[in-house]
Amino acid sequence: MITAMGIAHLAERSLSSVFNAASVLQSQADGTGFWMPVDASTTSGEVDWIFYVLLWTSVFFFAIIVIVTGLFVFKYHSRPGQKAGKTSHQNMSMELTWTIIPLIIVMVIFYFGFRTYLKMTIAPDNSYEIQVTGRKWSWMFTYPDGTVDANLHVPVDTPISLVLSSDDVIHSLYIPAFRLKKDAVPGMYNKAWFQATVPGEYDILCAEYCGTSHSDMLAKVIVHEPGGFEAWLKDASNFLDKVSPVEAGEKLVKTRGCAQCHTPDGSVLIGPSFKDIYGETAVFKDGTNTVIDENYLRESILDPMSKVVAGFEPVMPTYQGKLNDREIVAIIQYIKSLSEKHRSEALTVWEEVTEANEGETHATTDAQVTESAVETE
Ligand code: CUA
Repeated sequence: MITAMGIAHLAERSLSSVFNAASVLQSQADGTGFWMPVDASTTSGEVDWIFYVLLWTSVFFFAIIVIVTGLFVFKYHSRPGQKAGKTSHQNMSMELTWTIIPLIIVMVIFYFGFRTYLKMTIAPDNSYEIQVTGRKWSWMFTYPDGTVDANLHVPVDTPISLVLSSDDVIHSLYIPAFRLKKDAVPGMYNKAWFQATVPGEYDILCAEYCGTSHSDMLAKVIVHEPGGFEAWLKDASNFLDKVSPVEAGEKLVKTRGCAQCHTPDGSVLIGPSFKDIYGETAVFKDGTNTVIDENYLRESILDPMSKVVAGFEPVMPTYQGKLNDREIVAIIQYIKSLSEKHRSEALTVWEEVTEANEGETHATTDAQVTESAVETE
């Protein structure tokens, strides 16, 4: 006969062995474990530890309950000629045991869970702040100097705080290697932070179903060695000055989310491919049409819903305020360069932009363009 005290004693002993087993398995999980991905931030070890405690506590009680139930079913099943025995209505010590032990277990779980939650939620004061914007269907990371990239670049061993928002629907930034997940919600700012401990590249996913290309809403965290981040940022912040408009356009298409829906090779994703469209005629849903030139491309970037090509869904977000004029020029030149017929017309140096777009672009662009033209001379 199993007494209440016996159960309590057994549970106590087993619980401590569960905790030991958890810490052993956790240490095995450093690197790529069976249950968990690579562990590369200051808090991921704690998250894993809590996961293992929950996992093995559950496994332990599941096993006990199934085994004891099985034994009792076998031992006390009805036999011919045997009467059912009386069961007691109340057993105070037994009831106290199965109330107090689970209470202690859940309070221990709460204590460690809440402690780690607070640690993961409150960013240290000296964190480096990066803005994160989710949009259908790409991530945009904006650094303090205004540089924008499709990947999250960070220095190693530095607290990074993220300010998340969305331009359209709810997305969720998910970085498994850091055990970090936070929603990006339109109209509000959410905060998250982490401190990466191992240089390398880790996956970023979207963990909130956000439409057709939700599963393609991928990016990378690049954790730089000491000094590497500063070098990357310096390089990324003024890349427009270093490459031709066509090359700049190609890079912008890749880093600002265009490439998620528009291909350079003729294959069709969410939107039309960029190959051989420049100079052709676009036909819209209502039957009207227009020649695809600089003005149409510019309009489609800034006001994508105004003229949607027949056969495609009106799902593109606006790039108003997300791309400056010089960047729009670069993207148009890149699209032009993908056209067999018009390739030779694509600008290969920035100084020509001033002539080509005279009177058309804003003062800021002219100033930038002139500045770079002077540098080139
Ligand atoms: Cu964004 Cu799913």
